[in-house]
Amino acid sequence: MSYESLIQVRNLRKTFSKKVGKHIFNRKTVAVHAVNDIQLDVRKGETLGIIGESGCGKTTTARMLLRLEKETQGELWFDGTDLCTLKDKETNKFRKRMQMIFQDPYDTLNPGMRIVDILMEPINAHHPKMSLKEKEAIVKTAIESIDLKPAENFLYRYPHELSGGQRQRIAIARAIILKPDFIAADEPTSMLDVSVRAGILNLLQRLKKEMGLTMLFITHDLTTASYMCDRIAVMYQGEIVEIGKTEQIIRRPNHPYTRALVSVVTDLNHFIEHRDEIILDGEVDATRVNQGCPFAHRCPFHEEMCDHTAPKLEEVGEDHNVSCHCLHKVDTSQIGVKEEQVLS
Ligand SMILES: Nc1ncnc2c1ncn2[C@@H]1O[C@H](COP(=O)(O)OP(=O)(O)O)[C@@H](O)[C@H]1O
Ligand SMILES: [Mg+2]
Repeated sequence: MSYESLIQVRNLRKTFSKKVGKHIFNRKTVAVHAVNDIQLDVRKGETLGIIGESGCGKTTTARMLLRLEKETQGELWFDGTDLCTLKDKETNKFRKRMQMIFQDPYDTLNPGMRIVDILMEPINAHHPKMSLKEKEAIVKTAIESIDLKPAENFLYRYPHELSGGQRQRIAIARAIILKPDFIAADEPTSMLDVSVRAGILNLLQRLKKEMGLTMLFITHDLTTASYMCDRIAVMYQGEIVEIGKTEQIIRRPNHPYTRALVSVVTDLNHFIEHRDEIILDGEVDATRVNQGCPFAHRCPFHEEMCDHTAPKLEEVGEDHNVSCHCLHKVDTSQIGVKEEQVLS
């Protein structure tokens, strides 16, 4: 089957440098390979999840897409244009079409501005000639669309006068106010109280449907990803190691890293009858140079070639790709599932 992509990421790479060492006169600069040559398509109208543990490059990938971070190398095609080749002024035209929702709404909302001014800001920037009356109407509609009603009760408040959930709703209103095509949500509920998380996820689902949005949904939580996403890309140390439909990733994870992630998630129990927990030692270290597989040093199926030959994403089933040399050793049916259950 062929799909129409809104975003095509090709050979994308971001290397930061950081200083290490305790002594201030004797510090070395080391390279941090945050994103390591990734290929990724986001299809029109889908929610694509990126999951992976902290430090594996999820945020950096989204920030490059939104042009908040410049790539070290690569191409980022958005609706037929390679954003990496654009000058700042040309990039601005695309900014309206793509927006980001951050983990912490405090980062996005200026504490010294009232809600009405926060929401007017993007309209002023992109529609400077619009009348005040029109702008006010757009702001009110945006506030009501995120279920803060009546809008008048919120317009003249400051961010600190709202709860965490309400603040994240305002950040979402700001992201959708210019009717973008694409939203990247970077762990949008991880800083919020558990009690308000579901409300924010449902709001994003509803807005996506009503506005026909394409979404990139970043999380380290597989349960949230399984609820929100049509497809999931699993990232490990700057690379995509597995990508497929949500159902395939949850039911038939192939990559040893994905299998480890799935096996420890208790909330997924209702999909899974039997599983052996795989507990990983160690953690992601983006200062390592991966000549072979990024997961080699933690992988229970590790072979010699994993150390020096980089595996490529290869098809293992319909619309399901995995990069691993050792799949012949992995019993992919081992994580038992109830066949009759279908993810919704
Ligand atoms: N501005 C920066 N300078 C130096 N290193 C950075 C910077 N931003 C991110 N990194 C490093 O890049 C790696 C990936 O980070 P990030 O994309 O934030 O991962 P994630 O969102 O998956 O937790 C981490 O090792 C992080 O420390
Ligand atoms: Mg992050």
